[in-house]
Amino acid sequence: MRKKAWVVGFLTLTVCFFNVSQAEENSRIAAHYKSEVEPLFRKACFDCHTNQTRFPWYHSIPGVKQWMDHHIEEAQEELKFSEDFLFTGEGSPEKKLRKIWKEIEEGEMAPFYYRLMHREARLGSDEKEKIKTWVQFALKELGYAPLE
Ligand code: HEC
Repeated sequence: MRKKAWVVGFLTLTVCFFNVSQAEENSRIAAHYKSEVEPLFRKACFDCHTNQTRFPWYHSIPGVKQWMDHHIEEAQEELKFSEDFLFTGEGSPEKKLRKIWKEIEEGEMAPFYYRLMHREARLGSDEKEKIKTWVQFALKELGYAPLE
């Protein structure tokens, strides 16, 4: 009986230890995100991927409103930046990180029509590099393979 209690105690401690170190990694990733990446996402992504949308005047035009609302809803099902890292939306943290970089690298996000109307959403190469550095850092902290 004694032995069993000891084993259970040990296992509990181990689980706690892993949870704590996981939480520490997440908070390091979140801190890096907050200082380097969030300001960029705020200007290029937040209108669709958070509930802090700054609606333009033409949002009040019937038809445009429905189209935009639907688009924003879809965007947030995929990924929502309202919370800091780990964010919410589809897939594991690893999948989210890789998808974020893929969309930016391929020039798919922010969408073309949005970049046309929002100059501040056109990320420069140094800004993209900052995002890539953060994604690499996060993947490393979480123990995943780096981006190619
Ligand atoms: C004008 C609205 C809009 C903006 C701004 C926007 N997105 Fe999106 N995003 C969408 C929509 C809609 C979808 C879901 C449909 C799709 O994949 O095209 C999406 C999907 C995504 C996905 C998932 C893609 C997939 O195939 O799984 C990622 C990752 C993403 N966006 C990242 C970003 C990032 C990073 C930014 C800023 C640099 C950004 N988005 C800016 C509308 C937007």
